[in-house]
Amino acid sequence: MKKRILIIGASGQIGTELTMYLRGIYGNHKVIASDIAEAADEVMKSGPFEILDAMDYDAIQDVVISYEITDVYLMAAMLSATAEKFPMKAWDLNMNSLFNVLNLAKEGKIDKIFWPSSIAVFGPTTPKQDTPQQTIMEPSTVYGISKQTGERWCEYYHNKYGVDVRSIRYPGLISYKTQPGGGTTDYAVDIYHKALKHNKYICFLNEETTLPMMFMDDAIRATVNVMLAAPEDVKIRNAYNLAAMSFNPQEITASIQKHIPDFKIEYNPDFRQEIADSWPQTIDDKAARKDWGWEHKVDLDEMTKIMLDNLKGEY
Ligand code: SER
Repeated sequence: MKKRILIIGASGQIGTELTMYLRGIYGNHKVIASDIAEAADEVMKSGPFEILDAMDYDAIQDVVISYEITDVYLMAAMLSATAEKFPMKAWDLNMNSLFNVLNLAKEGKIDKIFWPSSIAVFGPTTPKQDTPQQTIMEPSTVYGISKQTGERWCEYYHNKYGVDVRSIRYPGLISYKTQPGGGTTDYAVDIYHKALKHNKYICFLNEETTLPMMFMDDAIRATVNVMLAAPEDVKIRNAYNLAAMSFNPQEITASIQKHIPDFKIEYNPDFRQEIADSWPQTIDDKAARKDWGWEHKVDLDEMTKIMLDNLKGEY
């Protein structure tokens, strides 16, 4: 089958690694990276790249037609912390980019869409432990409202227009290749950099803030696997719960101290504490495991080792 993939948001934390992974599977020239800003060198040099604004329907359509794109991964979004500062901008970007790709699929111009959802779809009234796939969802952040609304539209386009759209509720994602930007779970990446650089980290969440997290390799595998699943196995067309590990700042600190014994953490919670407090602590992802065989591989201590090994050269 002739498959050509467009990644929108290929310069971001997920997009960078997703581009390289998909190029490894389908071949460099079958995977077109795009973003409003240039991507990392490895992305720019290994295959096609287009400057593309996720809000510009006509520009996306031009790229889709000229490269004969079949699948789109829409990774452009404004994350939770930044979205609280620019609510209308976040809503515009997060919703209009989604409508652009949903409408391209509705019009038969592309076959398949991946769009990421998030644990942010849950809110303060959601059960915090083992948060079920279907439960109370009253998100209290701009980002969460946009993701929950997006989920509803994905399911609607699937049911009404037969659009093949697939989604995952990502937990906090941790990686060493690209820094995250504007999220509430970003501390769990920054802490590794600061541990190596300064032996000390000042954390914007308090020590007991447990959140669901995942190492990037697992998240990329989940993304590609849900896209590879047979359509009839993708029974949930809003977004799948997905879990790997949950920890709080105290626990990630202890994990780092196994390698850097004199590493110290201090706590200075800011506005992001309230965002984190509204999210689940642990996630029930049985549906993803059953429907398309999801399995995570990396736990906290293994991730700490990988992060420190890969980042230590930088400092
Ligand atoms: N990691 C994201 C954030 O913190 C949640 O999807 O905004």
